[in-house]
Amino acid sequence: MGHQLVLVLDFGGQYNQLIARRVRDMGVYCEVKPYTAPLSELRAMNPIGIIFTGGPGSVYLEGAPQVDREIFTWGVPILGICYGCQLMAHLLGGRVAAAQEDAAREYGKTETHFDPACRLFRGLPESGVTWMSHGDYMEKVPEGFTLAARSGACPNAAIADEKRGFYGVQFHPEVNHTRHGADMIRRFLYDVCGAAGDWTMEDYKRTAVAALRDKIGSGKVLLALSGGVDSSVAAALLAEAVGEQLTCVFVDHGLMRKDEGDQVEAAFSRRAVNFVRVNAEERFLARLAGVDEPERKRKIIGGEFIRVFEEEAKKVGAVDYLAQGTIYPDVIESGAGDAAVIKSHHNVGGLPDFVDFKEIVEPLRLLFKDEVRQLGRELGLPEYLVARQPFPGPGLAIRVIGGVTREKLDMLRDADAIFREELAKAGEERRLSQFFAVLTNMRSVGVMGDGRTYDYAVALRAVTTDDFMTADWARIPYELLDRVSVRIVNEVKGVNRVLYDITSKPPATIEFE
Ligand code: XMP
Repeated sequence: MGHQLVLVLDFGGQYNQLIARRVRDMGVYCEVKPYTAPLSELRAMNPIGIIFTGGPGSVYLEGAPQVDREIFTWGVPILGICYGCQLMAHLLGGRVAAAQEDAAREYGKTETHFDPACRLFRGLPESGVTWMSHGDYMEKVPEGFTLAARSGACPNAAIADEKRGFYGVQFHPEVNHTRHGADMIRRFLYDVCGAAGDWTMEDYKRTAVAALRDKIGSGKVLLALSGGVDSSVAAALLAEAVGEQLTCVFVDHGLMRKDEGDQVEAAFSRRAVNFVRVNAEERFLARLAGVDEPERKRKIIGGEFIRVFEEEAKKVGAVDYLAQGTIYPDVIESGAGDAAVIKSHHNVGGLPDFVDFKEIVEPLRLLFKDEVRQLGRELGLPEYLVARQPFPGPGLAIRVIGGVTREKLDMLRDADAIFREELAKAGEERRLSQFFAVLTNMRSVGVMGDGRTYDYAVALRAVTTDDFMTADWARIPYELLDRVSVRIVNEVKGVNRVLYDITSKPPATIEFE
């Protein structure tokens, strides 16, 4: 059974994924397509509504992102945001111009007044702050449209053609800075487009399982399971769809956190799949011996991983499908400029060249991270797998600064487990984006009992972030830091000092290496 679809037409703005996430959070399925996609393809998606995103362009400049006017004849409601609003006005006969005076350009929080009769704003406060970011403005509104909002510098902050269901807003309703912005999007979806709210994970699971069975038939599938959220959920979904036709290869490089390898095994060995855990710790540690340069460590681990996986794949024999845990943010192409950029997927890059298979399946390629987690819960995966924080592919090897030995890894695992346990006990876990311990390669003098010690220092790191591109160090309570410090020094042999990292990113990075 299909569900309704909203089309997000991407003109290259920075908030495009955010728009799509907002729509899906409201129970409406949507897909992002670049503005360059053929109109016939967009039409065939049969959208109940269309959102034009913002973008860096100016509609009156040559080569500006455009869409064929035919889209306005489909009888489908359209919401244009920022550039999308200007483009709609431009294409429907209005006039858009560069703001001559600085006063008409608006960036940031702007007090805005709304027409309560407009369907987008009905029932909401008549004024409030919106997030503006535009250098162009609508000089003349197209025929059939009325003004629906104004701000200090901008008499037409929103325009509406209620009859055709066309709306344009100069501000960004998708960002949190716009008060009631989410409500405006909700009104567009439910009151204008007639959305039914039929996008649920239960429904998605059923549809995805059926589609995978259909595609895979009686074929064999191979998946590299890392224990991270994406590959775990992909494995669980495929297990549900094709059971023993799936082989999951879990390369345990010995660089996981405490008990993590066993947890992954426990979650998958009882599902009806072929689950192979390769205990490759010796191999990885042998290759890492004496290496202390971070990038070399990464390269060695990446290369060794491929070698181990390849050996296992050979044992499985020829497979029909290689499954990957690619998710939607990796898939969305930016419509900005002509050279669309697709982010390469660092976790799986390189694998396909080494394994004998016919085709790739990516069962999560239309899901955002939060949705992947939801689907994992729907599939009955344990919370410790579903809620897992990002964990670097090279694992603890880049959290032991300098040379890596088993002894050091064990020290780090114990210290890290204490930190995690205390954060969980204090209920701090949920507000933090990522936290972990690092074993520095600095030794310092301490005193324990009557004796002098000369041991390692452990650094603790905890950050909050939305996107992991920038991050703030977390202000966790001193009492909690104190408990963690006392426990680590008492319980982890070889550590006599605990430090807390108070650097944000930038200038530091989240990881130490
Ligand atoms: P940085 O240290 O660059 O980390 O601020 C940003 C995010 O990426 C994770 N990270 C990695 N993930 N392979 C990965 O799969 C890697 O080599 C790697 N290095 C960093 C890091 O944990 C953080 O979430």
